[in-house]
Amino acid sequence: MKQDLLSFKDWTADQLHNLLALATTIKNNPAGYRTALEGLSVVALFEKPSLRTRVSFDIGINKLGGHMVYLDSQSNKLAGREDVKDMGANLACWADAIVSRVFTHSTLEQLAGSAKVPVINALCDIYHPCQAVADYLTISEHYDDLSKVKLAYIGDGNNVTHSLMLVGVALGCEVIVITPKGHEVDPKIVELTEARAALYGGKLTISTDMSAANGAQVLYTDTWLSMGDDTPLAEIKDTFAGYEITEALMETTGADYVMHCQPAHRDLEISGSLIDGEKSLLMQQAENRMHGQNAILVELLAKDFEPRN
Ligand code: CP
Ligand code: NVA
Repeated sequence: MKQDLLSFKDWTADQLHNLLALATTIKNNPAGYRTALEGLSVVALFEKPSLRTRVSFDIGINKLGGHMVYLDSQSNKLAGREDVKDMGANLACWADAIVSRVFTHSTLEQLAGSAKVPVINALCDIYHPCQAVADYLTISEHYDDLSKVKLAYIGDGNNVTHSLMLVGVALGCEVIVITPKGHEVDPKIVELTEARAALYGGKLTISTDMSAANGAQVLYTDTWLSMGDDTPLAEIKDTFAGYEITEALMETTGADYVMHCQPAHRDLEISGSLIDGEKSLLMQQAENRMHGQNAILVELLAKDFEPRN
C-alpha cells in the first residue's frame, strides 16, 4: 500500500518523533544512505516558484542515489493541458514518487488519487509539511525535550502556520499563534490541532495580542503575502503594523531564537539584523529542509533500507 504525505494531520506522535530521528541519522551518516533510493526516480511538479524546496529535493534525492525530473507546470504549459488525474496516472507509469507544489490542496488529492506512487506535498494553500519537519528538526537540535518548547508564530495565519501547529502539538510543544484580525488561521485546522494536543500533550494558544509571545523560546514568522496574494504592499504594511519580529521584540519576549521559512522580506515581517544575527536559525532551517525531506523519502520509498555503515 503506497503512503502519501499531503499533510501530517493523521501522523501519530511516535511516527513524527521517528521521522525526526531518521532525519538526524541520515544527516549524521550521509554515506550510509548513498544508495537508499538507487534506481528510483522522483518527479517534481511545481505550479509555483521555489528556491529551497526545489533545490533541496533535487540535491537530497541525488545524495540518496535517486534521480529527480523537474516539471514547471506553468512554463511548460502543462496546466490546463489535461486533467490532473490523468497527469498523475501517467507520471506514476515512470516515476516512483511525485513531489508537488500546487495552488489548491485538491490538486494534490487528485494526483494522490490517480497516481499509484506516493505523492508528497511540497506546499499548497493549506499546508507546508516538509517545512514543518525541517523546522522541528532544527528546534530539536537546540532543545533536547520538545515538550518544554514554546514556539510563538507571529504574522499571517497561513500554510506554514497550519503545518507548524499540527506537527508541533503532536511533538509536545506549546504553539502560540498570534495574527492580526482578518489573518487568523483556518478554524478547521485549529480544531484538528486541539484534538491532537489533547491526544499527545502539546498545547495551542490563539491570540491577536503580541504579549502572548512572552516567555516563548522561539519566535517564528513568514511572509505577510503568500504566493498568489496580490494585496498591495502599503495595505499589508498597515494591517501588520505591530506584528513585526524585531530586536526589541526578542528582548521583550526573552526569546532565544528567531525562525522564518524564507523567502524573507528584510525589515518587513522580520528585521534584517535578526536574519543575520546570532539568534537566527534561518540557514539551519534551510539546510534541514534537505535532511527532513530525505527522511520522508526514505520512509515512504525505502522503509526497509539498511544503512551501509
Ligand atoms: N521555504 C520554502 O518553501 O522556500 P521556497 O519557496 O523557496 O521553496
Ligand atoms: N506562506 C508562504 C510560504 C513560502 C515558502 C507562501 O505560501 O508563499
